[in-house]
Amino acid sequence: MIRHYLKDDDLSPQELIALLDTADQFKADRHGFKPLAGKSVAAVFEKNSTRTRLSFEVGISQLGGQPVMIDGRTSQLGREETIEDTSRVLSRYVDAVAIRTFAQRRINALASVSTVPVINALTDEYHPCQVLADLQTIRERFGRLKGLTLTYLGDGANNMSHSLMLGGANAGLHVRVSSPVGFDPQPDILLAAKERAALTGGSIHLITDPTEAVTGSDVLVTDTWTSMGQENDGLDRIGPFRPYQINRALLAQANAEAIVLHCLPAHRGFEITDEVLDGPSSAVWDEAENRLHAQKALLAFLIGLTRS
Ligand code: CP
Ligand code: NVA
Repeated sequence: MIRHYLKDDDLSPQELIALLDTADQFKADRHGFKPLAGKSVAAVFEKNSTRTRLSFEVGISQLGGQPVMIDGRTSQLGREETIEDTSRVLSRYVDAVAIRTFAQRRINALASVSTVPVINALTDEYHPCQVLADLQTIRERFGRLKGLTLTYLGDGANNMSHSLMLGGANAGLHVRVSSPVGFDPQPDILLAAKERAALTGGSIHLITDPTEAVTGSDVLVTDTWTSMGQENDGLDRIGPFRPYQINRALLAQANAEAIVLHCLPAHRGFEITDEVLDGPSSAVWDEAENRLHAQKALLAFLIGLTRS
């Protein structure tokens, strides 16, 4: 059976932990294991990227595979060839497809006709590869995941909020989302995260007040207030968000050993201050590095499954 990774709960809680173990092994031994020898993986980008593009391209090469990087705007996707027809063709050439695109329904359509694994490299609704790296980073710092409290501050309706809820629930974290009124998570995703949390001993809470939300928290996470594609949505994405900035004062309300994550790119002085991003609590560069290791583990897992 083909396995895809379209959203965080496409992995079971057990698979998630096994995958993070593999990611740690890849981190310890970068060049030893080449499960993609003789295979090709396409990575399609319909939005900008630095980390995701680099980590897929380098990671596929390190696994012995051939990365095929496709810019959506200069491929025939940019001239309205359908995503399904594109997928049918990709399946004839490559062994897996990663795609960064807009609506989740677009990646779902791609996966629906794909005969190879499809990986979500970010959609409007989810960013599940990022959360694998986030979980790897948290586990590195604390030695465990279950029972830790993670607070996400910012746009509760964006891809990072949704994936942190769903992926955090999968890992048994207590996830809090703190966002301005009108920027709550999508109700269906909130429900799915709560259901997953009920299986793992985690929990999901929406806490509007940012100080209350970070009190007792082990991990603070933020993200841009304006995601790709939202630049002209007409909403005030600065004023209502100001109280949710991770700055020294807010960080001081969290646990003394708390770490700070940000998927990057950061908008310094908006969702996070320089002193926090560059300060001792910041784990963002390890987090960025772990994209490479976590995605290598994901590719090995998905392509390994397809082979059997
Ligand atoms: N965090 C992340 O996905 O970064 P890029 O947009 O640079 O890929
Ligand atoms: N929420 C951000 C994440 C960027 C990696 C966006 O979608 O633009």
